[in-house]
Amino acid sequence: MNGLEVEIVGLRLRNPTILASGIFDETGRSMLEVAKAGAGAIVTKSVSMQERQGYPNPCVAEVECGLLNAMGLPNPGIAAYADEIAMGRQGGVPVIGSAVGSNEDEIAEVAASLCSAGVDAVELNLSCPHADGHGMEMGSTPEIVRNVCDIVSARIDKPVLAKLTPNTTSIASLAEAAEEGGADGVVAINTLKGMTICPELRAPVLSNRVGGLSGPAIRSVGVRSVFEIFEAVEIPIIGVGGVSTARDALEYFMAGARAVQIGTAVRSQGTAVFSEVCWGLTKFMSDNGYESISDIVGVAHDDRA
Ligand SMILES: Cc1cc2nc3c(=O)[nH]c(=O)nc-3n(C[C@H](O)[C@H](O)[C@H](O)COP(=O)(O)O)c2cc1C
Repeated sequence: MNGLEVEIVGLRLRNPTILASGIFDETGRSMLEVAKAGAGAIVTKSVSMQERQGYPNPCVAEVECGLLNAMGLPNPGIAAYADEIAMGRQGGVPVIGSAVGSNEDEIAEVAASLCSAGVDAVELNLSCPHADGHGMEMGSTPEIVRNVCDIVSARIDKPVLAKLTPNTTSIASLAEAAEEGGADGVVAINTLKGMTICPELRAPVLSNRVGGLSGPAIRSVGVRSVFEIFEAVEIPIIGVGGVSTARDALEYFMAGARAVQIGTAVRSQGTAVFSEVCWGLTKFMSDNGYESISDIVGVAHDDRA
């Protein structure tokens, strides 16, 4: 193992940077580019059983220190997306399929179809703040999270990751429920519910009015969430939200994440962000006497310092 290699939910990653769901992963070709650029793994765009059109424009708005989006989970449906996954897998890094659905059985069905399409693990998107019927209502209480993880884990034999929201209740209690339901790991966080208004138009900018905030603005919420989850569960955590530098990633590792996902920064910095973060991590490790990323995981907790 080189110093950046990590093992998480049974997957061996060449480094701990993962493409987050929904950014630059709509096609097999873009997944290949991300693999070529150095990411350790890829999460697909969230996919549903049937095609979803998503919301009309405007569905993205730049705000200070972040991005507000209400795409509405547009995707071609799992049957049509399978070819993109097959191409994405040629990049030689693990591909994690992201599943959405309007109820537990539908999510389990999508998860099973993703496995048939060849993904290495499934991430359950239980946390989209702007997709009525397919959004964070599937992850809003511990009971719902436990139930959906239970049903999906029984249905598929690939690792199951639950992607959680900090928008509803204690995210640590959601993570505990995911663990009890048999999830192999948790991913925190999805976007934060937000809105921006155009004063001239006296109306919200996004066609859906409400969207999900991502980017640097949410990093401290993500780090806090991972910190709390680390104290509540044994299963591995993947941190996501506002990572664009090695320093940002280190905050997540020190809070307890074993890997990080990167989304919005791919839009602003391009796919080079993966190798830039890895370069900075290698330098930090060498300057501070760490031999592997796992030596850094959770060190910000008192009893590990
Ligand atoms: C344009 C856009 C589309 C997204 N689509 C999805 C999606 O389909 N499924 C999902 O689980 N998360 C989706 N997300 C959320 C990201 O995966 C990630 O959790 C969030 O953006 C925080 O990470 P970041 O600050 O690095 O972008 C999307 C985010 C953006 C900005």
